[in-house]
Amino acid sequence: MQQIAVVTGGSSGIGAALARALAGRGWRCVLLARREEPLRKLAEEVGGEHEVCDVADRDAVARTAATVLERHPEIKLLVNNAGIPGRTGFVDSDPERIDLVTRVNYLGSVWCLNAFLPGLLAAVPSDVVNIASVAGTVTAGTSGPYSASKHAQVSFSRAVTAELRPRGVRVHTVLPGFVETEGFPQRSVFPRFMHRVIAEPEDVAKAVLRAIDHDKREVYVPRYYRFATLAQALFPGSVARTAASGRLKKPA
Ligand SMILES: NC(=O)c1ccc[n+]([C@@H]2O[C@H](COP(=O)([O-])OP(=O)(O)OC[C@H]3O[C@@H](n4cnc5c(N)ncnc54)[C@H](OP(=O)(O)O)[C@@H]3O)[C@@H](O)[C@H]2O)c1
Repeated sequence: MQQIAVVTGGSSGIGAALARALAGRGWRCVLLARREEPLRKLAEEVGGEHEVCDVADRDAVARTAATVLERHPEIKLLVNNAGIPGRTGFVDSDPERIDLVTRVNYLGSVWCLNAFLPGLLAAVPSDVVNIASVAGTVTAGTSGPYSASKHAQVSFSRAVTAELRPRGVRVHTVLPGFVETEGFPQRSVFPRFMHRVIAEPEDVAKAVLRAIDHDKREVYVPRYYRFATLAQALFPGSVARTAASGRLKKPA
């Protein structure tokens, strides 16, 4: 029998690359996102299923999970990947955008874990992967609302790692740097000389599989981004000065 993976934000970018990688290993993927057309196409391509669901809507997540759990009482893997950019800093941001970024990037992961937990517990040992961001450990440049939502998501991920491990559910946090995707078109924003630090969605998909295979709690993509996290912790003044100079602008 095929193992079931639920992937949120499974219609493009990192979620789509991951769905293809999981299908290549024989998983049956249930893909969640808001737009039906790309979701349906990808589900067909990977021989999976799809559900239209806004992860920011707690009731919609509960309804979707109930439908999926009826078909598949055992969920071996949940990937909380759905996410959106913030686009501006706190000062200039539209309050509605701050609200939405928080509800999708942070609370979406919380609601999905709560709703799919019965399936994950029924399938132990099982795995949860939260696709966070280096912006969840480093605050730099003008992407405050996005960064704050990702800090909250990282904190959530670390907390449930401790809570769920004794119950047989392993939680992994994956922290990508810059990745070229539909929602985050990094190449059009960064000058050409910086393009070599931009990863592909497939690199993140490989990191997710690595996290599961080797039971890694936190994985950076690429790995050297962990030094940015160290710099933030050890030299907050230098990071703040660099950010204020505009050299660490991140278009998220
Ligand atoms: N690309 C980067 O540079 C980068 C770096 C670090 C971390 N990340 C994180 O990686 C994750 C995936 O992003 P991506 O780069 O692959 O971007 P993407 O190509 O824009 O994919 C985002 C996915 O999330 C879905 N989504 C957005 N809002 C949703 C909602 N409210 N409910 C359900 N699904 C929703 C989108 O589909 P619909 O629009 O159809 O809903 C889409 O499938 C995000 O959490 C992002 O923060 C990205």
